[in-house]
Amino acid sequence: MLSTRAHTTRLCSPKQAAQLSRAIVPLLTTSTSTLSSSVGIRLAFVPASQNLHHQCGSTRAFSTTPPNHMRDFFPAKETEHIRETLPAWPHHGYTEKEMLEVVPAHRKPETWGDYFAWKFMRFCRWGMDTATGMRGEQKVDKSNPTTATHAIKPLTESQWMIRFLFLESIAGVPGMVAGMLRHLHSLRRLKRDNGWIETLLEESYNERMHLLTFMKMCEPGWFMKLMILGAQGVYFNGMMLSYLISPKITHRFVGYLEEEAVHTYTMAIRQIDDGHLPKWSSPDFVVPDIAVKYWHMPEGKRTMRDLIMYIRADEACHRGVNHTLSNLDQKEDPNPFVSDYKGDRAPPRPILKGEGYERSEVM
Ligand SMILES: [Fe+2]
Ligand SMILES: [Fe+2]
Repeated sequence: MLSTRAHTTRLCSPKQAAQLSRAIVPLLTTSTSTLSSSVGIRLAFVPASQNLHHQCGSTRAFSTTPPNHMRDFFPAKETEHIRETLPAWPHHGYTEKEMLEVVPAHRKPETWGDYFAWKFMRFCRWGMDTATGMRGEQKVDKSNPTTATHAIKPLTESQWMIRFLFLESIAGVPGMVAGMLRHLHSLRRLKRDNGWIETLLEESYNERMHLLTFMKMCEPGWFMKLMILGAQGVYFNGMMLSYLISPKITHRFVGYLEEEAVHTYTMAIRQIDDGHLPKWSSPDFVVPDIAVKYWHMPEGKRTMRDLIMYIRADEACHRGVNHTLSNLDQKEDPNPFVSDYKGDRAPPRPILKGEGYERSEVM
């Protein structure tokens, strides 16, 4: 269980919660009478799990959930014989240079399918901004929505956490759907898949690690959980249908989703650097143990900014991978990212290729 000695501070005001509830209602077609400001999102910033708490000797800096309500959502399972269960896909890591060079990017739509994917992504982004109560002055220049990072007014830590949680809860779906459908296709047609499935499943695993990390810092209320549940129901089925109709357009859509993710995390880093998110810059703040282990975060590099740098690098990889996969022949081409190239050539590195590789570059 988590420490109950931490100080608590309310980050999600009743007004903000009410605003969120009001905005979400039409989207979920839920009766307004069932909602009140008290059922909004309970944010619990928990800088460290108990393990890390002991390890680092620091206390939980702040929380918005009353300490008596705090609980560890998924404590590590330890049985009579099992000490710990290691990640199925260990993280491959990045160089510091790669992480620093990630920038928001945008691939211009070229085909009608690209255009449809881009416009649909814009619609989803509008829905999320509205649902999370983002105000006009907190938004960036409309004509460059995934590359501009200046906003007149910064978001608060709780607003960022709401966005991170919601974004990550849906980001883990496409890779699993695509991997599952390609797996079934391979079984059904008695054909090789040529390496796509593993990359897609690893992507969804990686996204789930993002979500689990944020879940260690934030305890959503039942309303947020309902939102996530509803979104997953719609999104999973939508993705499956979309992938069956056109995997090419679906990968493009995911590429655009990842552009949004890189943009979101870049803005958060910028606002930390500008001193607008003091709770995350506090020296008392330590990231959850689950993140330290997964990304092998070195001692002295375990701030919220460091964590977001790792997560942003992951999103940049997904962005490059999905835009590239969209450019390939979906049935015949092997996955370039796990292929062994002729001569001395190394496989492509998607992290800094925001617009993805063209087919001619990698085949
Ligand atoms: Fe993510
Ligand atoms: Fe992602």
